[in-house]
Amino acid sequence: MEHMSNYLIVNAKELVTVSGFAGKCGEEMQDVGVISNGALYLADGKIMDVGTTEEVQNWLLDQGITSECYLLVDAGNKVVMPGFIDSHTHFVFGGYRDDEYVLRLQGVKYSELMEEGGIRRTVSSTRKASFEELYDSGYKRLQQMLMMGITTVEGKSGYGLDLETELKQLDVMEKLNQTHPIHIVRTYMGAHELAPEFAGSPDQYIDFLIKEGLPSVRGKAKFCDIFTEVGVFDHKQTRRLLHKAVEMGFQLKMHADEMVPYGGAELAAELKTVSVDHLLNISDNGIQKLKESGTVATLLPNTAFSLREKYAPARRMIDAGLPVALASDMNPGSCYSQSIPLIIALATIEMKMTIEETITALTLNGAAALDLADVTGSLDTGKDADVIILDAPSYKHLAYHFAMNLVESVFIKGNLEYT
Ligand code: NIG
Ligand code: FE
Repeated sequence: MEHMSNYLIVNAKELVTVSGFAGKCGEEMQDVGVISNGALYLADGKIMDVGTTEEVQNWLLDQGITSECYLLVDAGNKVVMPGFIDSHTHFVFGGYRDDEYVLRLQGVKYSELMEEGGIRRTVSSTRKASFEELYDSGYKRLQQMLMMGITTVEGKSGYGLDLETELKQLDVMEKLNQTHPIHIVRTYMGAHELAPEFAGSPDQYIDFLIKEGLPSVRGKAKFCDIFTEVGVFDHKQTRRLLHKAVEMGFQLKMHADEMVPYGGAELAAELKTVSVDHLLNISDNGIQKLKESGTVATLLPNTAFSLREKYAPARRMIDAGLPVALASDMNPGSCYSQSIPLIIALATIEMKMTIEETITALTLNGAAALDLADVTGSLDTGKDADVIILDAPSYKHLAYHFAMNLVESVFIKGNLEYT
C-alpha cells in the first residue's frame, strides 16, 4: 500500500468523470462525461486536475510540478472513474440468519419470518455481540467492499433498539472509519423495528426515541432513518420522530413503500428527506411529489432479487425526472450481499436502466443521497480523490462483463488503498 504520495494517472482509454456537484435528475443521468485518453492529477487527497493526458501534462508544466512530485500510473487500455458510493447498508450486526434464508428459498415469505425471527433476531444477537466482534466482522465486510471499488459507505444502527447497543453500533462504525480507508457515513435507525420492550406500544417507543434515543446519539450520526411500512411504523409516528430529528440537527432518510404501497414517497417529500429508499411500490403521485421535493430515490435491487420481489420502477422514475441512486442494502436478513457487480447486472437487465444511468446512480447520485455530492462522487477538480481503475477497455464492460468485478485499483482521498 502506497501512502502519502501524489499520483499522476495517464492514458486512460476512457476517463468517466460523471462531472457534477449535485445529484443528476432524469435524463441528465445519461451524461457520464467520457474523456478519451484521459488523465488525473491527485495531490493532498484531492483531485487537482482532470482532462486529456496532454491537457493535464501541460497544466503540470504550467504549475512547475515535476516528475519527482508524484508517482506515475499508466492506465493504458483501462477505465478510470469515480469510486462507488454505497449509500444504504446495515453492515454492522451480530450473528447470521442463514437458516431463515434457506426457509425463504423454500418459499416462506420474509414477512412471515418477521414475527418469530427477522430483524428482532439480529437485535438479540447484536445486543449480545461484543464491540470487538462487531468491529472485526464489520472490518471484513469493508474489505470486500473495498475490492469492489466502494470508497464511501453509509452504515445504519438499528440492531440494538436500546440505547446501549445503538451506541455500540455507531461507535464501532466510528472506529472503523478511523482504521479502515473507506469513508463511513453513519445513520441512526432506532426506528428500524419496534423494540421487544415496547411490544404492542409503538407510540410509546417513538416517545422513547424522541426523549432518549435521539439525544443519546446526537453528534454520532449524520442521518436519522425509519422503517415506514404497514405493521412497523405509520405516517403519524414517522412525522413525530423525523420532525424532532430535524430539530436536533439530523438529516433524514426513510425506508418506504417496500412491501406494499403506503404513500411513503409522498411522506418523504413532505418531510424533505435527503433520500427515500426501496420504493418497490411507489405510486405515480409519489413520483410527482419526489420530483417537487428534490429527494433522491434510492433503489436496492439486490434486496428485491433476494426476496424474489418485483424491482422498483426505475424507468418510470428516471423518465419522470427524478434523481435515482442505487445501493446494496447489505444486511443479515433481506440482503446479505454487498455486491456492486450484481447491482449493475440487475439495474441494466431487470430495471432497464442504461449503463450510464447505472454509473451515475452508483457514484454522483449515491453521494447526493448522503448529501456529499459537493465533495465526492465524480472526477471534478477540488473533490476528494476517490478514484477507481477498471481492468476493462470501456465502462460498458461494467454491464457487458456481467456480475464480474472489474476493479483493479482503488484510491481513497488520494491514497492507493487496493491494487
Ligand atoms: O432492508 N426494509 C426492511 N428490512 C430491512 C432488512 C433488515 C433485516 O432483515 O435484518 C432493510 O432495511
Ligand atoms: Fe435497509
